[in-house]
Amino acid sequence: MTTDGLPVLHTLRRGIPGTTPLVLLHAFPVDHRMWWDVTDLLPGDRTVLAPDLPGFGTSPSGPDVAEMVGADRDVPSVDVMGDGVAAALDQAGVTRAVVAGLSMGGYVAMSILERHPDLVAGLGLLDTKATADDDDARAARLEMARTVLADQRVDAVFGMRTSVLGATNRISRPDLVERIEGWIGDQGPNAVAWAQRAMATRPDRRDLLAAYTGPALVVVGEEDELSPVRVARQMAYLLPDSDLIIVPRSGHMTSNESPQPVASGLSRLLRRADAAPPVA
Ligand code: MLT
Repeated sequence: MTTDGLPVLHTLRRGIPGTTPLVLLHAFPVDHRMWWDVTDLLPGDRTVLAPDLPGFGTSPSGPDVAEMVGADRDVPSVDVMGDGVAAALDQAGVTRAVVAGLSMGGYVAMSILERHPDLVAGLGLLDTKATADDDDARAARLEMARTVLADQRVDAVFGMRTSVLGATNRISRPDLVERIEGWIGDQGPNAVAWAQRAMATRPDRRDLLAAYTGPALVVVGEEDELSPVRVARQMAYLLPDSDLIIVPRSGHMTSNESPQPVASGLSRLLRRADAAPPVA
């Protein structure tokens, strides 16, 4: 599915018309392909859509998406990612969906919940956090953005091929390290820099979670070093109607390290969203 200037929506699975679709938002610095493993394990009746976020994979750049959604081309923001995805879904005729994202994708899912609440039939937050960056984290992102732009290469983020995995899988899953390295290597320095600058300015969204009464799922790998278990527990505590899944022997990329419990949690979230009354 392509709409000029908006994020490209990949249809990972075509389900039965009329059922609520699932929208899966990818992490940094990869693209929609990270969702293939989970999609294989999801119920066949659901349409599964996975956008490439601005600049990643096959999508237009952050500034181009910003322009399409009426935002400032020169101000990277997670809200531009969320508004772009919402506009692409609207163009595709999707008015309501279960929206789930991992890490950066979770930041985007929360932006969509805040800015397009009618779209969200259920919320999935995987290996992510609702807090804003502190000064050190923000400075590190801006430094990384400067480095990749100066290098015109993404070498500065290749370390994530292992840091996103749990201590167990870093050693025992060289196949996963290789796949993630391939996905990172396919992204461009402009996308990486734009996304880092966007994430650096994202707001604290804990109050949003506390006010959301719809069905929610929180997933975290027990070995996640980037968005640790205590952060996931806090999000699950804030969300009035949430399931919390802590995935053993998995790090930040639960979607690929342990796709089965992630798919089970998402399947249950879809069923809960079907049963839930629309959120006022
Ligand atoms: C991700 O996996 O998307 C990143 O760890 C997000 C971040 O840098 O905060």
